[in-house]
Amino acid sequence: MSSPEQNKFFVTTPIYYVNDVPHIGHAYCTIAADVLARYYRQQGRDVLFSTGTDEHGQKIEKTAQAQGITPQQLVDKVSPRFGELWKTLNISNDDFVRTVEQRHIDTVNEFFRRVYAKGDIYLGHYEGLYCRPCESYWTETQAVGKKCPECGRDLEVLKEESFFFKLSNYAGRLLEHIEKNPDFIKPQSRKNEVINLIKQGMPDLSLSRVTSQWGIPVPEEINSKHSQKKHYIYVWFDALINYLTVSGGFADEAKRKKYWPADVHLVGKDIVKFHAITWPIMLMAADLELPRMVYGHGFITVGGEKMSKSKGNALAIEPLIEEFGVDAVRYFLMREISFGQDGTISVETLTNRYNADLANDLGNLLSRTLTMTEKYCAGIVPEVKTENKFLSCLTSIQQNKSYDNLAFGNILESIWSDISKLNKYIEDQAPWKLAKEGKAAQVNTVLYELLESLRIITVLITPYMPETAERIFKQLGGVNESLVWGSLPAGQKTAKGEVLFPRRESTFGR
Ligand code: ME8
Ligand code: MG
Repeated sequence: MSSPEQNKFFVTTPIYYVNDVPHIGHAYCTIAADVLARYYRQQGRDVLFSTGTDEHGQKIEKTAQAQGITPQQLVDKVSPRFGELWKTLNISNDDFVRTVEQRHIDTVNEFFRRVYAKGDIYLGHYEGLYCRPCESYWTETQAVGKKCPECGRDLEVLKEESFFFKLSNYAGRLLEHIEKNPDFIKPQSRKNEVINLIKQGMPDLSLSRVTSQWGIPVPEEINSKHSQKKHYIYVWFDALINYLTVSGGFADEAKRKKYWPADVHLVGKDIVKFHAITWPIMLMAADLELPRMVYGHGFITVGGEKMSKSKGNALAIEPLIEEFGVDAVRYFLMREISFGQDGTISVETLTNRYNADLANDLGNLLSRTLTMTEKYCAGIVPEVKTENKFLSCLTSIQQNKSYDNLAFGNILESIWSDISKLNKYIEDQAPWKLAKEGKAAQVNTVLYELLESLRIITVLITPYMPETAERIFKQLGGVNESLVWGSLPAGQKTAKGEVLFPRRESTFGR
């Protein structure tokens, strides 16, 4: 993903709108980014993992109005809700950026000035079909029946004075970049969509608003040179620059040089076009390097339907965490939905996975192994030299470049297939019989193999279930993150503890 000569890894989530409180869709993307961040930290990379909130624009202004508070009061109330949920979900972000912060405002101002100095910004009038909730203008061809292609709502005709950015100047260069860098937009289906959009021809990007005052003003010297009206920077231009802000912006060049460009911008498929077209072109205009990858993940649906507040079918995440625990929810989201595709979730499938994968497969493997270690080896890791005969997931993850492809579901599947093999191995070897027959050496071998396999599995599941991994390491008698077979030291004292995942016969939510 990032070039091997660099030891850094910079991963981002979208910055979420604060006109709504966080929901499972936001959590989904943020957990995936956390898995990447934790994985690359394990790999010894210097990771910068950022998330945050998008706090300007008309939508926020309108929401605040409806609640009878100021926009500032609204954003100060809602933004921390995201931070709190990330804390609950054990998200290991290194930064949390808010677009109302001074460091961000500074970056946006400098960015605007740079692009203006290149001659890529001009004043004009914008008239178009506008979707207020999505804050997007659409062309006649895109807006079939004058409906928003994104949300289906009626569009209105809006005309306003606006600064523009000459996107079209860069279309050719962008297409070339996409062609030359096969990993730039992933997965393939999103890449095709983006290429089609660019080839349809891109209207210049409207960069400022005079209608909404909740935003970052266009730099005064540029504004007054062209217009009597006061212009505020369009929310998408503002928001995208957050990624630069967290990498140090223009104020901390050393930091920016270290972390920029981003290795992965993780976003939902709804906003791929802004990240794979608008943002790269903005960067070209500012003479900055393009991100190495924009990954557009799929959407979570409930019963095959889009979650929405108005339908009232949105699945809240807090009750799920309460019932199943943080790690089970993290595991479930990364396992159940093939990353990149849409997927549906329900309390039933979550309950099933919890019982089958976590309580039975993983939980039993650990408890049986530790019980036998206590019984037959006095709770001490036996001294045995063996080879890895069990963990084919190690090679499959490598060979399939699973992390480069963000194939989280496949990774977990291959780990769990090894867990099944190990449970079967216990049945086949029946150490309790071997012990009865006095075959102590064989018992030791089997137990060492089980313990060492469990240790390596624990290393592999750490990015997904960090708390569970800690609990398993504790029971195995110590943390050891080496992936080399045989690293579990003989003589280490195991400590069988509480059941990892007590079975649930949940009727929750039914
Ligand atoms: O678009 N399933 O913010 P936003 C999966 N502020 N993921 C979902 C989801 C679902 N049902 N619903 C939302 C914005 N998401 C802008 C971003 S970035 C410079 C500015 C996730 O609050 C998904 O990652 O609408 C989607 O792209 C993101 O939340 C949109 O969050
Ligand atoms: Mg949205």
